[in-house]
Amino acid sequence: MKRMLTGLQPTGVITLGNYIGAIKQMIKNQDKYESYIFVADLHAITVPKEDFNLKENTRSLIALYLACGIDPKKNTIFVQSQNEYHANLSWVLECNTYFGELSRMHQFKEKSKGKENFTAGLLTYPVLMASDILIYDTDIVPVGMDQKQHVELARDVAERFNNKFGKTFVIPEPLISDVGTKIMDLVDPTKKMSKSSENQNGVIRLLDSSDEIRKKIIKATTDSDSKVKFDKDKKPGISNLINIYKSLTGKEIEEIEEEFKDSNYGQFKKAVADTVVKEIEEIQKRYKEYIDSDIIDIILEEGLKKTRLMAKAKLDAVKRKIGFYN
Ligand code: TYM
Repeated sequence: MKRMLTGLQPTGVITLGNYIGAIKQMIKNQDKYESYIFVADLHAITVPKEDFNLKENTRSLIALYLACGIDPKKNTIFVQSQNEYHANLSWVLECNTYFGELSRMHQFKEKSKGKENFTAGLLTYPVLMASDILIYDTDIVPVGMDQKQHVELARDVAERFNNKFGKTFVIPEPLISDVGTKIMDLVDPTKKMSKSSENQNGVIRLLDSSDEIRKKIIKATTDSDSKVKFDKDKKPGISNLINIYKSLTGKEIEEIEEEFKDSNYGQFKKAVADTVVKEIEEIQKRYKEYIDSDIIDIILEEGLKKTRLMAKAKLDAVKRKIGFYN
C-alpha cells in the first residue's frame, strides 16, 4: 500500500483553505493509502510571532483533525517536534541542498521581501519539510498549490541523495486537487486565503462563529457584473466562491452555473454561506467533544512511538550510507 503524509502549521486556527487544500484530500484518500498526518510545529517558529500559543494551538489542531474526519484508526497522527529525527535528517539534507535552490523558493522570496532581518530557518524551511516527507518513504503528499514547489524540492533532494549514495529515499509526488488548489482571500481574491492574513474579513477559520462566517461571505469582494460564471481572471471573487461551493458540495462548475443562472450575487452568496456554515457547524460540534478528551493524548503517544521507530531506522540507514561513525 502506498504511503500518504501531510502536515499543517499550528500558527493559528486553520482556514477553510487549509481544510479544502489539505485535510479534505487526506480524508478522501485515507482508505486508499497508509496515512500519516502531523502538526508542523517546528515550521511554525520560522517567522517569530508572539501572538500565538504553540502548545494550545497544537492540541487544538489535533482536535480539529479528528473533528474534520481524520480517522485515528486509519491515520498515524503525531507532533513533529516530539520526533527528534526530523530535525536531525534535515541537517543532513541541508548539506545536500544548494543555497540557490532555497533562495529561489516562492514562499521564501515573498516572506523575506523587503525585510533586513529574517531567520535562517525561513530559508531552510523547505529542507525540514523534505525531511518530514522523506524520513517515512512517503509516496503521496496532499498539499495546496502554494506548497507544490516545496514538494518538488523534496523530490530533487531525494534524487540527488540517491544518485550520490545509492537508493535511499522514495521519490514523493504532490497530490493537488483540482478544486482546492488555492482558496483565495475573500476581501482580496487575488491573494491566497492565509492563516497569517492581516485582514480577518478575508479569512474563514474553522472555529469562527456561524454569524462571522455568514458576514464574511456576504461581504466578499465581487465584480460589478451579476452573472454567476467561473472566470478566474475577470471574476476572481465569484470564481473563488464557486470553487468553495464546488469543493464542499462536490458539484461541477457547469452544474453550479446552471443552478444559479437566474440568481443574483446576493442569492448565490447566501447559498455558499449556508453550505460553509453547515459543514463548519458539524466540525465544531465534534471539536467540542475532542478538545478536552484524553483520546488526544493516547493518539499522540501511539503516533510518536510508531513514527519514532520508523524515522530512526531511516536516519540510521542515511548515516551508514554517508559513513558516520556508529
Ligand atoms: P501550511 O500550514 O501553510 O498549510 C497547510 C496546508 O494547507 C494548504 N493551504 C491551502 N490550500 C488551498 N488554499 C489555500 N488558501 C491554502 N492555504 C494553505 C497548504 O498548501 C498546505 O497543504 N510547510 C507546510 C507544512 C508542512 C508539510 C510538511 C506539508 C511541513 N512539512 C510535509 C506536507 C508535507 C505548511 O506550512 O503548510
